[in-house]
Amino acid sequence: MACKVTLIMCHFLVVVGLMNIPTLILAQPQVPCYFIFGDSLVDSGNNNALLTQAKANYPPYGIDFPEGPTGRFTNGRTKADIIGQLLGFVDNFIPPYATVTNPEISKGVNYGSGGAGIRDETGRNLGDRISLNRQLLNHASIISRLSLLQRNKTFTNEYLKKCIYVLEMGSNDYINNYLMPNNYVTSRIYTPDQYAADLVRQYSKQLRTLYNLGARKVAVFGLSLIGCTPTEIARFGTEGQPCVQRINDAVELFNNKLKPAIDEINTNFQDARFTFINMTSISTPEGGLVPPGPPCCQVRSDGQCVPNSIPCPNRNVTIFYDGFLPTEIVNSLFAARAYVAQSPMDASPYDISQLARL
Ligand SMILES: *[C@@H]1O[C@H](CO)[C@@H](O)[C@H](O)[C@H]1NC(C)=O
Ligand SMILES: *[C@@H]1O[C@H](CO)[C@@H](O)[C@H](O)[C@H]1NC(C)=O
Ligand SMILES: *[C@@H]1O[C@H](CO)[C@@H](O)[C@H](O)[C@H]1NC(C)=O
Repeated sequence: MACKVTLIMCHFLVVVGLMNIPTLILAQPQVPCYFIFGDSLVDSGNNNALLTQAKANYPPYGIDFPEGPTGRFTNGRTKADIIGQLLGFVDNFIPPYATVTNPEISKGVNYGSGGAGIRDETGRNLGDRISLNRQLLNHASIISRLSLLQRNKTFTNEYLKKCIYVLEMGSNDYINNYLMPNNYVTSRIYTPDQYAADLVRQYSKQLRTLYNLGARKVAVFGLSLIGCTPTEIARFGTEGQPCVQRINDAVELFNNKLKPAIDEINTNFQDARFTFINMTSISTPEGGLVPPGPPCCQVRSDGQCVPNSIPCPNRNVTIFYDGFLPTEIVNSLFAARAYVAQSPMDASPYDISQLARL
């Protein structure tokens, strides 16, 4: 295992170097607008005013973020933030839906909400959250506001086609639904294969709704190996394996169905440019099967950092910040490889830099 860890460290060093790129890019973004949908992996403050346990607007979250704790579930930037910088949105991060103002909406909105899922009931054990269906309703309302501001429907429709859309959903449909048999019935109704099929069916419908709302350049992240997160390992045990194998197997069923569902959208709609980002492939040279190591912060039973606890000092060589979510350095690695694929498996049919140029 030692050599695998060394490989990851080598990777980190490469990424640290890469991350100087945003400062070199000219102020003009490559696309006029960038919209973000998802869960705690991309939330930048939408849950701050909600009645939920899934909030990150307290220390030690944000310890490496210029503004401190903002509601981001990591020490610094999320991968959606970093992808935004790589796209050339370097002056400001794309604002959260909860606080976005009219002058800001034309550059894009971040709808992400911790605890949210493809299924509406997902995450209800944590409290309120903005499910993907509600995020799409919020997007429709942003489009109405944008139309009023731009005063030309044809122009707005053309404008929306040029934006980049990033989606990141499904982790909570496992963590805060299927894998909690005491709170949810799904594991009694569906086998892992049936559950994956039903999730992808609903997700695919939601992606078509997004297309109908004018999106054409859409990057959809697959799920990472949830069985390798510290909190799932603590909850389920690994039986001598590096990770919880049955969870990773369930997640793989979802990913294997999601990729063809995305190809199908491209086939059905001639002008759709939807792409699948393979989290397993972009995680590490070995596909993420490395023992993750302990989280950086002291975690509660729900996997979140204990408020005001002291985090680890070596955050640039630690994979997980809390019990579920990666550190900023790992987010940088993911963002860089989703943006410019290093292997044909990373992103198909396009990486995000290609999507921007189409
Ligand atoms: C509305 O936008 C379209 C597309 O940009 C443009 O061709 C058209 O002239 C605009 N109409 C008006 C009234 O400005
Ligand atoms: C993702 O990448 C991994 C590792 O390269 C590969 O084994 C897997 O088949 C890919 N998954 C999909 C859905 O393409
Ligand atoms: C950690 O990485 C960031 C870039 O992500 C860099 O700015 C910072 O200087 C690094 N910190 C240390 C202690 O190496």
